[in-house]
Amino acid sequence: TTAPALRHYLQFSDFTADEYAYVFERAALIKKKFKAYEKHQPLTDRTMAMIFEKASTRTRVSFEAGMYQLGGSVVHLTTGDSQLGRAEPIEDSAKVISRMVDLVMIRTFEQTKIEAFAAHSRVPVINGLTNEFHPCQILADIFTYIEHRGSIKGKTVAWVGDGNNMANTWLQASEILGFKVHVSTPSGYEVDQSIAGIRSADSYQVFKDPMEACRGADLVTTDVWTSMGYEAENEARRAAFADWCVDEEMMRAAQPDALFMHCLPAHRGEEVQAEVIDGPQSVVWDEAENRMHAQKALMEFLLLGRQAG
Ligand code: CP
Ligand code: NVA
Repeated sequence: TTAPALRHYLQFSDFTADEYAYVFERAALIKKKFKAYEKHQPLTDRTMAMIFEKASTRTRVSFEAGMYQLGGSVVHLTTGDSQLGRAEPIEDSAKVISRMVDLVMIRTFEQTKIEAFAAHSRVPVINGLTNEFHPCQILADIFTYIEHRGSIKGKTVAWVGDGNNMANTWLQASEILGFKVHVSTPSGYEVDQSIAGIRSADSYQVFKDPMEACRGADLVTTDVWTSMGYEAENEARRAAFADWCVDEEMMRAAQPDALFMHCLPAHRGEEVQAEVIDGPQSVVWDEAENRMHAQKALMEFLLLGRQAG
């Protein structure tokens, strides 16, 4: 069989709304089969290299378990135990690794780094988180929203906290899938529309007060105050973000059936109150599990294109 044209998944904007509709449907089918202990192994004999330049629990387990379930296998590399940490040019690493595997997942720092790798790769490259974006997480988050509430089109997502990789990815997703994002960040930590690369400001609105951002929202979501790679700013961030803790009052300002999401790992008492993340509106465990189902659909789509049945 012929492989589909080479595609990468480096940002949320790499797929169209129509492609997302397919991937979400496929993820639902793949999840259903998994729950029924039914084998689904379209990637037998395929190998994925996973490169981690930052720590991970969910991304590693979801991709690794997911690839095995699809019939394939993985090679796990970190900066510390490969030549990547010893300044071998990224282009050379891309050329070599992509001659031996069928797919590459990378978690790294600058988006330009994953772009350079992809430019020299013979096989699809997936962004497993960069400083700028976390597309696989939003893929799982929107899949989770759809499972619980149906289409996200026309809905409102409240983003409370740092204008980080997650926030940028939500902005991209809102433009592609037709929903609104209410963003509230402390000053100095705003989202930058030019990083998200979105064409207009129509799909998002900025609020000074996090409570106002949550008013009427269908989904309230947040993330750590200090992302990986920014640890030196930890103290300044703790002071600046003190009022950006998602609490029960904010959840009450949202729709009565609003969901709460967090990509995890979470810090109870910092960006979210324990009562919220461990409360009835929280779907964080489904959200984490759905990383695996959504990414299985993503890997299958990149390697085989659209599948019937
Ligand atoms: N949400 C997420 O990407 O988690 P990990 O850092 O554990 O992979
Ligand atoms: N924004 C966080 C997400 C962790 C999954 C970070 O980049 O560290």
